[in-house]
Amino acid sequence: MSSEPTLLFVVGARPNFVKVAPVLDALALRGGIAVRLLHTGQHYDHALSASFIERLGIPEPDHHLGVGSGSHAEQTGKVLVGVEETLARERPDAVVVPGDVNSTMAAALAGAKAGVPVVHIESGLRSGDWTMPEEVNRVVTDRVSDLLLCHSDEAVENLAAEGIAPDAVQLVGNTMIDSLLRLLDPVDRGEVTERHGVEPGGYVLVTLHRPALVDDSARLAEVIGVLERIAERLPVVFPLHPRTRERAAAAGIELSDRLIGLDALDYLDFIALEAAARLVVTDSGGVQEETSALGVPCLTYRTTTERPVTCRLGTNRLVGLDPRALAAAADEELAGPGGAQPARIPLWDGKAGARAADAIVSFLDEPAP
Ligand code: UD1
Repeated sequence: MSSEPTLLFVVGARPNFVKVAPVLDALALRGGIAVRLLHTGQHYDHALSASFIERLGIPEPDHHLGVGSGSHAEQTGKVLVGVEETLARERPDAVVVPGDVNSTMAAALAGAKAGVPVVHIESGLRSGDWTMPEEVNRVVTDRVSDLLLCHSDEAVENLAAEGIAPDAVQLVGNTMIDSLLRLLDPVDRGEVTERHGVEPGGYVLVTLHRPALVDDSARLAEVIGVLERIAERLPVVFPLHPRTRERAAAAGIELSDRLIGLDALDYLDFIALEAAARLVVTDSGGVQEETSALGVPCLTYRTTTERPVTCRLGTNRLVGLDPRALAAAADEELAGPGGAQPARIPLWDGKAGARAADAIVSFLDEPAP
């Protein structure tokens, strides 16, 4: 048996892979720590899972739970049971969970109940909107975590306001941006835009998948109506999350030929299209961050954001769930000069994975009380 400390990383959904890859790389570079990887199977389509694992160079997971789709309780319950069994067998020194998806919260709870220290990557984000499943996941995960790694000052402040011990909190920066910068650099953006039939700087990129929007057929129809109008001016590239595709089909909403509707994209194609877009419209969390780091204007079609730093220091604008406000903001943005703006968010610099790894190693050497 090895005497190295062991970490169990638990991942399950598309954004999780992007957030852990730089931390796994940094830990592998350092050596001296054994890392095991558990994939819950929350995301199982090739485009949302295996393709990301492959592109990011993440090692093949040691465990697969295969939980698949289901209600929140089903998904959470299956991950809780599966992670508990794995913890009992593997007895790691800590369990590491990224982000705010159902897999994150369930794995954190399993760790806390089993007495295994929990490390949370991307702690402290708060939208204040308890109707978002992710907000419940964030708050519960942070409450049971022992090492809370934050990407911004505001996340650190949120945790302080909730009375979390400052010793347990470390500001390390944004690991998602490490993946973005590392993988975007060698990509030929011209080749990707050409393959999708658009010109660099000459199209709008759209992602929408949040239940509050896409599960409401009237809202979904309204926003697609706005996108159709934007597409009269510039091509609109719209990769569809499986949930969005299903809900649009169920509601009888068809995209016109003006919208370039695609299946969910490969990570490299997506970040290349993000970097070369004239404007991005989204309801995703990660996309607000990536566009801010790239300096590409972003309109967020939501009423709240757990990432206000992207509005304060980045390129993000929260337009609410109002189709007229989205249309007006898009008009305003497209009437402007365009072009990327310099990124200004501290510690979103491509080195957050190394800082996170340092924080985890120090924690293993001397866990906080
Ligand atoms: C989840 C996260 C969300 C994150 C998003 C990234 C939660 C509560 N939500 O949302 O925070 O932004 O992932 O993509 O954890 N489906 C497939 N194939 C898949 C996965 C899902 O077809 O590989 C379909 C299924 O119909 C499923 C639906 O998408 O019922 C929802 O999937 P789920 O993982 O529950 O939530 P997401 O909407 O993807």
